[in-house]
Amino acid sequence: MATKDNLKAAFAGESQANRTYLAFAKKAEADGLKQIAKLFRAVAEAETVHAHAHLRAMGGVKTTVDNLQAAIEGEGYEFQEMYPSFLAQAEGEGDKAATVSFKFAMAVEKLHHVLYTKALETLKAGKDLASARIWVCPICGNTVVGEHPPEKCDVCGAPASKFFEVS
Ligand code: FE2
Ligand code: FE2
Ligand code: FE2
Repeated sequence: MATKDNLKAAFAGESQANRTYLAFAKKAEADGLKQIAKLFRAVAEAETVHAHAHLRAMGGVKTTVDNLQAAIEGEGYEFQEMYPSFLAQAEGEGDKAATVSFKFAMAVEKLHHVLYTKALETLKAGKDLASARIWVCPICGNTVVGEHPPEKCDVCGAPASKFFEVS
């Protein structure tokens, strides 16, 4: 494999390790194992360092206009092609957990596509987005811009109190 392909594979592996370790940290935390949870979070941060270095080495971080364009393409592919086919197959196989997970992601990627498209338009007009609060639903990933989270998540039905604010 060419080094470019190796960087791509290594980036995917390090990125997955980061999210896996964060999930393991949550489980350790829930089990009352605070120091093991901390170790998982520390190693997860280190895997992010590796992932970002690999991504930069393969030229994956460009101008913010280019990055928004790439993000729009990625989100568009996910909600228009990838998740519809994954969802159909999961439903066909009667895999309920996968069906719910794909459904939530598909609905939210569509919103991400809208948010990024607006950001790109604004940036192309020479501006940053207007200052605003942004909330994320921890159940489905719904991403909402506004002074308050919605009373009820319109993707998964979670109450406002579940939403967390992104700084
Ligand atoms: Fe690593
Ligand atoms: Fe997304
Ligand atoms: Fe939600």
